[in-house]
Amino acid sequence: MASNWNADSWRGFEGRHLPVYPDADKLTQVEETLTRFPPLVFAGEARALTADLAEVAAGRGFLLQGGDCAESFAEFHPNNIRDTFRVLLQMAVVLTFASKQPVVKVGRMAGQFAKPRSSPMEKQGDVELPSYLGDNINGMEFTPESRIPDPDRMLRAYSQAAATLNLLRAFATGGYANLRQVHQWTLDHIGKSPWAAKFSEMADKIGEALDFMEACGVNPGTVPQLQGTSFYTSHEALLLPYEEAMTRQDSLTGGWYDTSAHMLWIGDRTRFEGSAHVEFLRGVGNPIGMKCGPSLAPDALLRMLDALNPARTPGRMTLISRFGDDKVEAGLPPLVRAVAREGHPVVWSCDPMHGNVIKSNSGFKTRPFDRILNEVKGFFAVHRAEGTHAGGIHIEMTGQDVTECVGGAVAITHEALADRYHTHCDPRLNAAQSIELAFLLAEAINLERAEMKAEAA
Ligand code: PEP
Ligand code: CO
Repeated sequence: MASNWNADSWRGFEGRHLPVYPDADKLTQVEETLTRFPPLVFAGEARALTADLAEVAAGRGFLLQGGDCAESFAEFHPNNIRDTFRVLLQMAVVLTFASKQPVVKVGRMAGQFAKPRSSPMEKQGDVELPSYLGDNINGMEFTPESRIPDPDRMLRAYSQAAATLNLLRAFATGGYANLRQVHQWTLDHIGKSPWAAKFSEMADKIGEALDFMEACGVNPGTVPQLQGTSFYTSHEALLLPYEEAMTRQDSLTGGWYDTSAHMLWIGDRTRFEGSAHVEFLRGVGNPIGMKCGPSLAPDALLRMLDALNPARTPGRMTLISRFGDDKVEAGLPPLVRAVAREGHPVVWSCDPMHGNVIKSNSGFKTRPFDRILNEVKGFFAVHRAEGTHAGGIHIEMTGQDVTECVGGAVAITHEALADRYHTHCDPRLNAAQSIELAFLLAEAINLERAEMKAEAA
């Protein structure tokens, strides 16, 4: 267990991007209420995810992490949860087939509310107000009242997270996630979109593999693994009063776990030395992610790893690089080398979203699909050159047909962004773009496997 650590020791450290609540008594009341609420996840599940990620760190698996940039109260609807879950499963099947490795599925779901913002203030015309910080803190509406941090929002976020997680668990184990079914959705998708025909060859191969298994007596009826799947949740552990209140001591092991999600990550803006967020997360037993952007020096990264994973437990740390497509090939290798040299057993995952935001001439914040794909390819190229495992991707996506990222085979144009731009924060890949990315990624993985085979021969 971490030394000199308590669930509230972060309070003695520098906490950036934390809201200031005008009503301190109400904050204390809400924290106390949350402390008495049931945990959302069980410590044993967090340990199971660590074990799954340890396999990825060892080069024997792939991590797929995705979901909203920011979940919202307004978009809370069973269909949204279902559709995002479904697209993640479809992506996972394609990636499993390509990599011939298990894919660990982790949603940015059931708790991904709080957002770090580039500016504490937002200006519209002559009016300046505090920025929107996520639905668990304040409201998106551009009025002075709505932008006041309100502790009660944490209770609503908890209940939304609980209901979301409940539905995800039901889908994952109740028969909805059956492998045949998931593949059928992909076939339907390919049938509907002429552009997707280019992926039909791979989809047919997956179908053939399933037919072959069926003929051998391997089907959801005989093999429970095909009936359901494991699905984990994650979010950025930004709002520390909430995370602290959700932190409990595991009765089986005596270890402390943040029971708000299976996996928590530290954002690029809060991963500095002396950070309250680092202090908090070093003491909880959950698997931890850390965003690694262009400002992170190799020696600082190593100090972070020593603080967050002194025992070097495989699967404990996932490093999520987010450089931008033009910076990844120069910026990532020094970090990968330093980590390899020191022997830290990490999962390397690629977030191709946060370094590739541009302002569209139509006024919207967007991300060009080509740049997203380019960053993923750059990430693979770096790991190929360094002899390390390109272990995962971390994306902002939704199962809805939104128009937030430009490009892709359906070619969302800058003019079309206004049609269905629903995100509460950053632009997300829509369902078609997400599935397309999975197929393109599968091509990259196939290429990597072919090269490795050729080298071994
Ligand atoms: C995010 O993942 O939503 C985010 C804010 O990312 P980063 O910390 O990498 O900027
Ligand atoms: Co984001």
